[in-house]
Amino acid sequence: MAAKTERQFVRKTGGICLRADARWAGRMSRGYPLMFCGDVSVMLPGNALGAFLLHQRLSEGQIPALLPLTQAEREHCRNRLVGQVAVITGGASGIGAATARMFTRHGARVVIADIQPSLGEKLLKELGPQAEYVECDVRKEEDIEKAISKAYELENRLDVVHSNAGIIGCVGPIDEVRIDEYDATIAVDLRAAVIAVKHAVRFMKPQKRGSIVITGSVASVRGGMGPHGYTVAKAGLLGLVNSCAAELGQHNIRINMISPELVSTPLAAFALAALAEGGSQSVTVDDIDRIVKQNSMLPDRLLTHLDIANAALFLASDMGGYISGHNLVVDGGKTAAHVLQAGGNHWSTKYMPMVAENDFVNGRDVEGLHDTP
Ligand SMILES: NC(=O)c1ccc[n+]([C@@H]2O[C@H](COP(=O)([O-])OP(=O)(O)OC[C@H]3O[C@@H](n4cnc5c(N)ncnc54)[C@H](O)[C@@H]3O)[C@@H](O)[C@H]2O)c1
Repeated sequence: MAAKTERQFVRKTGGICLRADARWAGRMSRGYPLMFCGDVSVMLPGNALGAFLLHQRLSEGQIPALLPLTQAEREHCRNRLVGQVAVITGGASGIGAATARMFTRHGARVVIADIQPSLGEKLLKELGPQAEYVECDVRKEEDIEKAISKAYELENRLDVVHSNAGIIGCVGPIDEVRIDEYDATIAVDLRAAVIAVKHAVRFMKPQKRGSIVITGSVASVRGGMGPHGYTVAKAGLLGLVNSCAAELGQHNIRINMISPELVSTPLAAFALAALAEGGSQSVTVDDIDRIVKQNSMLPDRLLTHLDIANAALFLASDMGGYISGHNLVVDGGKTAAHVLQAGGNHWSTKYMPMVAENDFVNGRDVEGLHDTP
């Protein structure tokens, strides 16, 4: 939404012009066709006179910028989660944070359950009153239960649970895996999802409605895409989704999974650093984006947080209303094509000899990832 149009609006109507989240705007603008989509920029009349003038000018077509949505645009922009409540574990960073932005933008109230309060608070400032942060270590059942209960109590409903928190966990060849580290990996990457589903369903069953989304990985469906513990956990999530889809359909609860390829987040950076052969160069967001691009099946197209958040929205909302037990792989077709590119991001380059050596990771730490928009 151009600032010019906003100024024009204020001048013509005597109203006020706000950038607001869609849900709040939906409440405030009741009765007026005021909602903009795309950039989620919203104009609201500031007082009765403003409202009247605005209405009049809208009817007369004097403020063309307020009226040009086509049917297709309206359809595209509709608020998919208005009035709904969602919980996102690991929602303070990366994919989870992008999903929190997407869900609030589509009208949901979101509980961000994470162990990074500073990032959580920062995100809350951006998302406003639609979002809450709950300290939640997904290794602890009581924490997950608390986060889900808190979400339910917001509106006496629980619509979406996105079990997303994850870590890379133990690394190294299989004959050197430390079993305590493996257990710790499974606790976050697999066991926590089982707990989240358990407690989500306890609220969703009585209301006979709900959607559960779990973040898997391309490592859920192929070897060599992550370290062993991570791969075992992510593959286990597929079993969880299949098993629960078979049981939960009768309660009108859907459960699905998103399996992204490499996307620029702290976790991805940790993975790249873990793949590296020593050294201490820093890895910047740009570096990771370059690597993601190098690996992309789609020329000149980066996989972004937004792509994953779009997939989450699709599965969480009624857009995916007849989909359950599905694993939506978001990888540009890489796993479908069985491609293990030389120069690609493959754990197998280090631990599994059949894939060509890659050359992009040279032992680097990670910097500036939380600055990613
Ligand atoms: N980034 C990728 O390339 C990629 C690819 C495939 C799958 N994934 C998956 O996406 C999910 C999100 O990861 P991301 O890439 O956004 O990384 P990220 O590091 O940005 O986010 C992970 C979040 O999980 C939280 N978390 C970790 N341990 C936790 C715990 N014990 N309790 C609560 N929260 C905890 C972290 O604090 C962080 O906010 C993970 O499940 C990951 O496996 C990521």
